[in-house]
Amino acid sequence: MTASLGTLGPRIIDLAQRLAAFSDTRDGLSCTYLMPAHRAAASQLAEWMAAAGMTVEIDGVANVVGRYPAAQPDARTVMIGSHYDTVINAGNFDGRLGILTGLVAIEALNAAHRRLPFNIELVAFSEEEGVRFSAPYIGSSAVAGRFDFRLLERRDASGISLGEVISKSGHNPDEIPAIARDPRQLAGYLEVHIEQGPVLLGEGLPVGVVTAIAGAARYSVTVTGEAGHAGTVPMGLRHDAAAAAAEIVLFVERRCSGIPTLVGTVGRLQVPGGAMNVIPGRCELSLDIRAGDDGTRDAAIADVLAEIDLIAKRRGVRIEAKEMQRAPAVACSGRVQSLFADAIGRAGLPVRALPSGAGHDAVQFGHLTDMGMLFVRCGNGGISHSPLETMTAADADVAVHVLLDVLEHFQETR
Ligand code: GLV
Ligand code: MN
Ligand code: MN
Repeated sequence: MTASLGTLGPRIIDLAQRLAAFSDTRDGLSCTYLMPAHRAAASQLAEWMAAAGMTVEIDGVANVVGRYPAAQPDARTVMIGSHYDTVINAGNFDGRLGILTGLVAIEALNAAHRRLPFNIELVAFSEEEGVRFSAPYIGSSAVAGRFDFRLLERRDASGISLGEVISKSGHNPDEIPAIARDPRQLAGYLEVHIEQGPVLLGEGLPVGVVTAIAGAARYSVTVTGEAGHAGTVPMGLRHDAAAAAAEIVLFVERRCSGIPTLVGTVGRLQVPGGAMNVIPGRCELSLDIRAGDDGTRDAAIADVLAEIDLIAKRRGVRIEAKEMQRAPAVACSGRVQSLFADAIGRAGLPVRALPSGAGHDAVQFGHLTDMGMLFVRCGNGGISHSPLETMTAADADVAVHVLLDVLEHFQETR
């Protein structure tokens, strides 16, 4: 099959721009789970998949699933996936690049009337970022048969539960068990993703092969102190919740610095109902700690939790740290890493293997099938989870040609 070099990359960038028009906000891109923009994005993706020769379904948790059939009827399936939800004020490529690279690859196969010895299932996962319900991987965990049904009770900031949101959007939580794929029918899982870091950019390389995906642990932390008058309560008598939170933030930064792959972030920090002239009585913060290996991460978490206890005692505040998520680091399949490496070599490029500090839908499939990921160079210093995220059409073009090459060389192993 020949796909004309140079045209597929610009199409991916163009589609990403068009998809970014569906946003919860007038300015920038925010597309959170089952908000109107998210549902419109799903319809758009379904339309594009159908036009590319796929049969399309939007499933019970709003994954958009396109099926491109194999040459023969009893074949297994290679899944290509990534997510279409975004963080608040996102870039155009996180998640969407993987969906659109798969889409454009299938468009090229379809235009050439080329069927492969396996079905291709292109899945645009509905939720990976965990923004609305502090529950990431809603879409991919359902497909992988790992959905945590307790999450249906979890509520968003407006008080509505995940189960209610799914039902009110015309989907059906009762269908979740049926979404799970039979691993015996899966021949592999492939995900293309923007690197979201500076490694490939620094080394002048358009793509790289992912070796493993770091596991995140996330906590929701609530500090309860004592509200009071900012003008009258002497400093020594205060139980300031925000000051205690500030100590937590600085300890996380100190504990997670200087250790390879270990990172810690307080991404949300709020004084609910705070006012300039009120001593903060309550402060809510999030905690996200990751590392390339679970031991390094868990040791950091233990130290942070111990320090939180000390801060609480010293300041006379109550601090509750609730674990929201804990996912182990997941290795990519050696076989799929070799497939990507060989395809990159055939494209005349050096092969760079690198781990992922970010989480990806792919982690849900590591235990089910041969899972692998291709990273694509992120511009602008490697910035992501920001509207400053950029990448080039030329790099998207390399990515889709590598993906097509991997599909052409994918050997079924049962
Ligand atoms: C997903 O974007 C993550 O937080 O790693
Ligand atoms: Mn992301
Ligand atoms: Mn992502």
